Amino acid sequence: MRSIVQVTFVWQEQRGGRREQRQEQVITNGDKTILGLAREQDIKIDATCGGRGRCGRCKVIVHGPANDISKSEEQLLTKEELTGGVRLACYVRPQGNVRIEIPTSRTELVQILTEGSEQAVPVEPDITKEYLVVDKPELETPAGDRERLLAALEQAGHVDSSIPLGVMADLPEVLRKGNHQVTVTRWHNRIVAIESGDTTDELFGLAVDIGTTTVVGGLIDLHQGKELAVAARLNGQAAYGADVISRVEYASNGTSQLRRLQQAVIDTLNGIVAELEDKTGIAASKIHRVVLVGNTCMQHLALGVSPTYIARSPYTPAFSHRIDVMATQLGLAVHPEAVVTFLPNVAGFVGADTVGVVLATGLAERSSRVVMIDIGTNGELVMSYEGKMVSCSTAAGPAFEGAQISCGMRAGEGAIEFVEIGDDIESVVIGGTPPRGICGSGLIDMVAELLRVGIVDETGRLQDAAELEGLAQSLTERIRAGEAGNEFVVAWAAETADGNDLVLTQRDIRELQLAKGAIRAGTKILQKILDIKDEDIDELLLAGAFGNYIRKESAMQMGLLPCIPLERIRSVGNAARVGARQCLISETSLKEASRLALEIDYVELSGRADFQEAFMDAMLFTPGTVSVQDSTEINKKVPRDQAV
Ligand code: FES
Repeated sequence: MRSIVQVTFVWQEQRGGRREQRQEQVITNGDKTILGLAREQDIKIDATCGGRGRCGRCKVIVHGPANDISKSEEQLLTKEELTGGVRLACYVRPQGNVRIEIPTSRTELVQILTEGSEQAVPVEPDITKEYLVVDKPELETPAGDRERLLAALEQAGHVDSSIPLGVMADLPEVLRKGNHQVTVTRWHNRIVAIESGDTTDELFGLAVDIGTTTVVGGLIDLHQGKELAVAARLNGQAAYGADVISRVEYASNGTSQLRRLQQAVIDTLNGIVAELEDKTGIAASKIHRVVLVGNTCMQHLALGVSPTYIARSPYTPAFSHRIDVMATQLGLAVHPEAVVTFLPNVAGFVGADTVGVVLATGLAERSSRVVMIDIGTNGELVMSYEGKMVSCSTAAGPAFEGAQISCGMRAGEGAIEFVEIGDDIESVVIGGTPPRGICGSGLIDMVAELLRVGIVDETGRLQDAAELEGLAQSLTERIRAGEAGNEFVVAWAAETADGNDLVLTQRDIRELQLAKGAIRAGTKILQKILDIKDEDIDELLLAGAFGNYIRKESAMQMGLLPCIPLERIRSVGNAARVGARQCLISETSLKEASRLALEIDYVELSGRADFQEAFMDAMLFTPGTVSVQDSTEINKKVPRDQAV
């Protein structure tokens, strides 16, 4: 029989610009892992692989009795870590009262891309406000408040209006407070809100992109179509795995797990709403309209709908078309009757975020040959030519976001973001601090440079120092034997934030090869379907944060992107959220989104033999024709804190 034990979690949290020590105690019978217990308490532990024991990220320091160290922990942790009491939270089970220290994660203080390209659209939201004077009740005309309001609406030309119970609840007070002069907010014939007096000069909406990693929301003045403030957060679901598949697996365990994931993202959204309120002084209750985009899985989870069958052949989502719900159904802290629209998805792995990008970039209207690549934990690709659009999705894995890379981190303070190799390594670190890790753009640079100088060969093998002739000693001494093949020291212990060498391992390079191979192979298949050769591509749009910060020359050097002149490649930023914003301010765009979702053809890659072939080919680091050295200089890069 297991005995009852007490687990005390201790961690630090960033609150209002300050770091605060937090502590929480849990009583358990010792049958759950520390990661499981933390999740139940909503305590965040970095768990990139979703608790499958593969990433080595869920490090905690255990003070007190626990189960024996597993083989995997021996492989994923260093000897120093093991002797210092570091364990992996997804393996460790308490066997007595324990104190669990959660180290500050590399994923904190992340920089999030909020802006993107957009099309000019007329301001014509599908929600309106109208000032009405309602008849006052008289002894001889005893009609109810609701009926007199409906009569006033009918007089204003709005027949068949419906007033939900949530709005009716306050109606008597609102009418009398405003001396029967009110402002009615309408969404089609549904009454969303009634306010005392004339408030027609203010109408607000929220446009949100729910990314697997980050969530970005903007408060929009719906009269002017202007964004008043933007706020961003890491998606609170990150503790349940870095990629979509880990989240689907977790949600598929049962209703309570699904609810937990839903609550995590709703909490994230509510944090964003609170920050927007702080920034603008506009009460969250004045937000009457919300438009959300996200990949198909994120949309399911935010709605609390099981995404299980998205991950199982034939990869069917529970819904594809646009969904409209009331904020109160989600627990979203805006006006409870606010209408929340989830834009339509194309398929299980090409979601509303892609529809948003297509809308924001005007892809459907172009007659030229354009390819759009949105690289995140999944790579979503759309290729268009003369109005025909084909899309696909490839499992890029989280390597491009710095996850599942031994020294990887997301793009935040201390992340190496640009690298160049001369006689030695030159790098740029976000925030100008000693490096703590390497983010996606830095990783691409690093490997492209290692390829260029020959330290990594075309097959992805990190060469032995002895095989490299004529290379500066400052470089060759960075190559050493690691636990699984060679490794390359990116930064020496004396230069780093934590006093340990920052190394890129052979395994890291393999992870990157898999990710880049999947993206490039996906592009090749779309090119094949539309019969477009590399040189015929007129424009290549890179969407999302990765596409914004990546050095295009490096991406081409390693064969991640089709080989085209650099001037044809354009970063379009967070175009998914811009698409959501467009739909929020323009009903025409909203309808257009539904049309696009139906028009974009989806190609399932998993069953295609030609994809497997293309993938094997694309795994090779075949350099493009662009010379990295000629086309860019590291000191010309715009530092991330100055970039939009
Ligand atoms: S190893 Fe524990 S969450 Fe990945």
